Amino acid sequence: PARQLPPPTAKQVQLLDRLCSDVFSDWAPPAHEYQVRENMLRTIEDFIRHQAFPSARLTLFGSSCNGFGFRNSDLDICLTFDDCSDPQSLDQPDIILKLAETLKRLRFIYNVIPISTAKVPIVKFTDRRSRLEADISLYNTLAQHNTLLLHTYAKLDSRARILGYMVKLMAKICDICDASRGSLSSYAYTLLLIYYLQRCKPAVLPVLQELDADSRRPRLVDGADLWIGFLRFYGEHFDFERNVVCIRRMEVLSKFEKLWNGSFIAIEDPFLLSHNLGGGVRRKMASFIRRTFLLWRLHHMRPIPNSLPHGYRDFR
Ligand code: GTP
Ligand code: MG
Repeated sequence: PARQLPPPTAKQVQLLDRLCSDVFSDWAPPAHEYQVRENMLRTIEDFIRHQAFPSARLTLFGSSCNGFGFRNSDLDICLTFDDCSDPQSLDQPDIILKLAETLKRLRFIYNVIPISTAKVPIVKFTDRRSRLEADISLYNTLAQHNTLLLHTYAKLDSRARILGYMVKLMAKICDICDASRGSLSSYAYTLLLIYYLQRCKPAVLPVLQELDADSRRPRLVDGADLWIGFLRFYGEHFDFERNVVCIRRMEVLSKFEKLWNGSFIAIEDPFLLSHNLGGGVRRKMASFIRRTFLLWRLHHMRPIPNSLPHGYRDFR
């Protein structure tokens, strides 16, 4: 049905533009909140260095530092050891259990839960003062690389950053943002957006991983038009049957080439090329996700487009 819609009017674009910037200012953490996260990290690091692991180092990754963090986003923390030359040899489950025991003695955190048998062992906990959730994993170097890549894309163009908040908010409101429950991670939605912004005309983002020296993009299109374009792209145009969302190169990548024909939504990790971020999405969820893109597009065409479906402030 969205195909028959006329393009948005100038007024609708203006209102939608305002919506995009409101969402950004409502949800992006103010500058001092980065400091809160950094302080929390240093206090925990000091404590575990004194109590259990003298060479421990904690580093933030994920949305706390990739440019797409919400005020209430969790802290994703990576633990490494300054004196460890062979991380492969570490007994990760054992370290996770010892770390959890140590963290339980810190007064300002609660709900300390070790998940030591998972594929990626972690300790989860909550900060009492800020109520922020956090998890610590070990040597998550791949995630640090993709954090830096996303951060670079976020810095390249403010429209990319704002639209990143729109797509994550949409996914969170519509409950399609949890890979452990058969949908996609926040990270996967950000990749969908980057892929679109590399291919819309004129392109908003370059393909950083195959960048030639001078490829600065002109800024011709409004954020709101891009948001509508993004929803249309995945609601109507992108060939999910055949193709893979792949942000590391411009050339089309087919599911056939990757042997991912059985996957309903295929999204290639830009560093771990064998990883399909949509691998856990079943047929029904895939079509629900695609319908969400269509429905949001329709919603934005209503006479009062400066609102979001459902009460978005309460989404958590
Ligand atoms: P929010 O917490 O929802 O604001 O976003 P986030 O980007 O922090 O997502 P999340 O906490 O789920 O993941 C934290 C980070 O882990 C991401 O930013 C990525 O750097 C990384 N990550 C998450 N899922 C994957 C994955 O499937 N593959 C890889 N390689 N990295 C991932
Ligand atoms: Mg996170």
